[in-house]
Amino acid sequence: MAFPHALVVSASPHASEAGAQLMRAGGNAFDAAACTGFVLAVTWPEAGNLGGGGLMVARKSAGEVVTLDFREIAPATSYADMFLDAKGEVVLDLSLRSALASGVPGSVEGLLRLWADHGSGKISRRKLLAPAIRLAQDGFPLSAEIAESINKRRDRFAVDPGASKIFVRADGRPWREGDLLVQPDLARTLRRIAAKGRDGFYRGPVAHAIASQQSNTGGLITLDDLATYESKYRPPIRGDFRGYEIISMGPPSSGGILLIEMLNMLDTFPLEGLCPGTPAYIHLLTEIQRRAYADRAEHMADSDFHPVPVDTLISRDYARRRASDIHLDRATPSAKIRAGETPPEPQHTTHYSVVDSEGNAVALTTTLNASFGSGIVIDGAGFLMNNQMDDFSIKPGAPNLYGVTGGKANAIEPRKRMLSSMTPTLAVRDGRTALLLGSPGGSTIVTTVLQVFLNVALHGMNIQDAVAAPRHHSQWTPDEIFIEPDAFSEETLADLRGLGHAINDKPSKIGAANCIAIEAQGLHGASDPRRQSSAKGF
Ligand code: GLY
Repeated sequence: MAFPHALVVSASPHASEAGAQLMRAGGNAFDAAACTGFVLAVTWPEAGNLGGGGLMVARKSAGEVVTLDFREIAPATSYADMFLDAKGEVVLDLSLRSALASGVPGSVEGLLRLWADHGSGKISRRKLLAPAIRLAQDGFPLSAEIAESINKRRDRFAVDPGASKIFVRADGRPWREGDLLVQPDLARTLRRIAAKGRDGFYRGPVAHAIASQQSNTGGLITLDDLATYESKYRPPIRGDFRGYEIISMGPPSSGGILLIEMLNMLDTFPLEGLCPGTPAYIHLLTEIQRRAYADRAEHMADSDFHPVPVDTLISRDYARRRASDIHLDRATPSAKIRAGETPPEPQHTTHYSVVDSEGNAVALTTTLNASFGSGIVIDGAGFLMNNQMDDFSIKPGAPNLYGVTGGKANAIEPRKRMLSSMTPTLAVRDGRTALLLGSPGGSTIVTTVLQVFLNVALHGMNIQDAVAAPRHHSQWTPDEIFIEPDAFSEETLADLRGLGHAINDKPSKIGAANCIAIEAQGLHGASDPRRQSSAKGF
């Protein structure tokens, strides 16, 4: 279905509806994006958040591009080997499930900033936060998917006083579809933000609750870390491919650089006649991906701390050199193989896309890192904290949650942003925004965005088919192709093995891309069939 005026595609029907309603009431896409983000913090608790961070790439109707980084930062007293024991070994789960796992949250600052700087000026802060406050205060009926997702983590929530209050039912039974999830503490926090803006979160009672819980439980985030947190406008990463201009996110994300580097490498090959899902296509994408992800591990990090050679990495010359040792008849083994402990899982991070009737387009990806972040709720304030510190390279060569490795560039340093894979991306054609792309999925985000884009730009699919098509992923280490279950035939897999590839069919679905195509007939939202997804517009 095509919507003529405005559209929000997100993981939650409540969040998409709230954003669409705000645009009906005269708000623009930035107002709607901020409102949708606050509602996701209530109704999509596994990744929507107040206690996490995110990245936004937007293009205004007149062509101005805005890229906002509201990624978490390492606390001021953090240090490089904070997740290692006395022998220099990684302490299991410390960077994922402890108070130390959290970076200083950026989402509240980021959402308020994009509303204040780019909103229509017609939507007050109270109006912006009203739907989130109502849904937290009155509750919302759980979908089967969220109920299951919470039930799966019951034991983890039960050990945290704040999380058990919200996610463990008093009567002990599991959550069922239709049960109301009521979050009064979260509603109070949201009301404070509505009344005082960023000071309602980064100063006052909420900041004190975060800082005192952190210091009582071994975390490092202080009142000063919170009071001084700032989101930052960043230069966008730009490239072009077959008539499209691509606009994506730069450091502290690896997403935009990887995407352009991979497209540039791909463009050095004759692509006509290559079909998605065939061994030849999967092989070529894998070879490109492993080279780009090797560059990620070596070169990419927060550019405020490490000189990222962006211009080189996204240049056509570099791509030509990098792709020159790709063989179409055999796999190149990754130089160093380190198996990831955990295969990529799709249930973390969330992406949403918003377009308004003026043509403003916002692609925004936000995250707590793992599903439900660290699993730790700030007790009394009602929100989950991120475990984004795991996105740093906690020990050179040690795989993180997504199995990706890193070196010195992405080591922990005070107030540094951890390297991300989030890839909110816009594709422009003939001077007009044509595609809004993005996905959750940790290190699989970039290859998901790559495949969705290629499905449209190279293979002529409509946006829904492009999003629904089976996916594969590779990332240098481990030296494997991850494939979705039942996505490819046994013959295809046998051919890939014959070319020298190891196949990992353990991961579940890859990504959950909530995308939009802007076409002459209207706005087409693509709901990814892999996860709950909702398109609301008018
Ligand atoms: N935590 C997922 C990412 O930022 O890549």
